[in-house]
Amino acid sequence: MTTFSDKGAAGAGVGLRLPHIQEVVTTLPHARWLEIHPENFLANPHATELLLETRRHYPVSVHTVGLSIGSATGIDRNHLRRVRALIDRLDPCMVSGHLAWSTHEGEFLNDLVPLPYDEETLRLLSAHLGEVQDGLGREYLVENPASYFGFGNSTMTEVEFLGELTERTGCRLLCDVSNIHVSGHNMGFDPYAYIDGLPAHAIGEIHLGGFTIEPDGATPGADLLVDTHSTFIAEPSWDLYGHAIRRFGAIPTLIEWDKDIPALATLLAQAAHADQVVARSLAPEPARAAAC
Ligand SMILES: [Fe+2]
Repeated sequence: MTTFSDKGAAGAGVGLRLPHIQEVVTTLPHARWLEIHPENFLANPHATELLLETRRHYPVSVHTVGLSIGSATGIDRNHLRRVRALIDRLDPCMVSGHLAWSTHEGEFLNDLVPLPYDEETLRLLSAHLGEVQDGLGREYLVENPASYFGFGNSTMTEVEFLGELTERTGCRLLCDVSNIHVSGHNMGFDPYAYIDGLPAHAIGEIHLGGFTIEPDGATPGADLLVDTHSTFIAEPSWDLYGHAIRRFGAIPTLIEWDKDIPALATLLAQAAHADQVVARSLAPEPARAAAC
């Protein structure tokens, strides 16, 4: 059995969710790295002990869903301190969160709400990101959201906004390839051009997650892609992932599955498939053609 105790993540890992944590500790499956949501552990000492045991064998990345860097009411400093305390015990390979806000006046929202892309938001997020990176004592990776609507008062594209944010704050980016496919469909932009516009040097991690197709209530006959993380990675996302790998290189990639969570083996099989896509995408042109 191979175990990993080094700090860095490489290849494709899987999200470690509570239904699988005892199985992982007991069986030490061949996973290249794991990503957790700290919010699942902050009030669960037993799960935290299992997580620390898991950390002895795998690189672990921390993906926070509650820091809400886009909140107009500011960063929740108490939450930031609690995440920092867990991070200090865990020594993760990466720490990341969303370009969105998910809390309002202390309440956690179920969905991540997007932001208008303008100078005012840039200033607000740059200040919040500085506070988060100082509070955590480490670099923070910002993830592009899945979008269902935009703001008429945005003065720049999401790609321009993310690029400027990395320049101003020194943060890096978590490129969620499935979110780009979902947003491209819902918002009517070219997902390949989006990836081509991102600053390649700033990409530190990639996410891949499943989405579902639902009727668009506002447009009869049209459908909406919803970033549910409840199913397999779709073929268009795999194709877009190959494009991202050719542009960014073999970036550590996480399979996200948060609802209707399947057997751990299913997640690991999706990760193995991601590793195959990377190998195929980076192979010399003739080998790539032969594999198609
Ligand atoms: Fe994601």
